[in-house]
Amino acid sequence: MGILKVEGLSKSFGGLTAIRKLNLEVEEGEIRGVIGPNGAGKTTFFNVVSGIYRPSAGTVTFDGQVISGLSPDKIAELGVVRTFQRVALFPDFTVLENINIARHLHARESIFGAIFGRSKEDERRNLEKSEEIIEFLGMKLHRDELASNLPYGLQRTMGVAIALATEPRLLMLDEPVAGMNNSETLAMTGLIRRIRDEMGVTVLLVEHDMRTVMNLCDKITVIDFGEMLAEGLPHEIRENKDVIEAYLGTEDIVA
Ligand SMILES: Nc1ncnc2c1ncn2[C@@H]1O[C@H](COP(=O)(O)OP(=O)(O)OP(=O)(O)O)[C@@H](O)[C@H]1O
Ligand SMILES: [Mg+2]
Repeated sequence: MGILKVEGLSKSFGGLTAIRKLNLEVEEGEIRGVIGPNGAGKTTFFNVVSGIYRPSAGTVTFDGQVISGLSPDKIAELGVVRTFQRVALFPDFTVLENINIARHLHARESIFGAIFGRSKEDERRNLEKSEEIIEFLGMKLHRDELASNLPYGLQRTMGVAIALATEPRLLMLDEPVAGMNNSETLAMTGLIRRIRDEMGVTVLLVEHDMRTVMNLCDKITVIDFGEMLAEGLPHEIRENKDVIEAYLGTEDIVA
């Protein structure tokens, strides 16, 4: 059985059904692409899986445990972690501090404990782990730089770093290469592949950049108007008549 199983998942906002009766299963260690035209429901899908929204119907099961209905904190603690479509970090803190803060939030310390009560040993371990992540990202030279001073590509990388700080088992990336130039895109693509290959993390990838999607994904799920339109290997999706039609008239021509 897959590590992530989504069954009959729907989410409505008033009269608008953003996702409708989605069924999908993702294998452990897979990189799964989730694509579809603007407004198809991709981000909503992430928000439901990560617990930001409660589903209107259906269930999400992670590693054999039903997670739909749990709080976002609890879901993150179980290892299901998302990044955001835009940059999300603390601009006035350094790279190292950002990752450290993310780790503390993950550890869910009481604010009291965070200020007064943390043991030296915990502190040392946290710092060690943060340094490891910086090394993995190839950002050692930027360790003490303010996050707001990083170039755009590295700010997006920091979004991934903050997610990695919480030691995910399933990482959900929402448009990780949006707005990136070619070399930034290639660097991010390589990083995502290494997160899977070297860390063994399962990846769900929402992305409009078709070259990135086709390069990275083992399998692709296509959503259109909130419903599953197609699922298959990259070359199957690229040649799928329904998919090509759904994309006609949008800027995202299937590569
Ligand atoms: N909180 C909300 N309240 C009301 N409607 C919402 C909410 N969030 C999303 N929607 C609607 O749900 C639909 C799906 O939106 P969603 O953001 O999931 O699309 P998307 O596939 O991520 O699009 P994009 O590719 O542009 O990021 C849209 O019609 C959107 O307006
Ligand atoms: Mg979106």
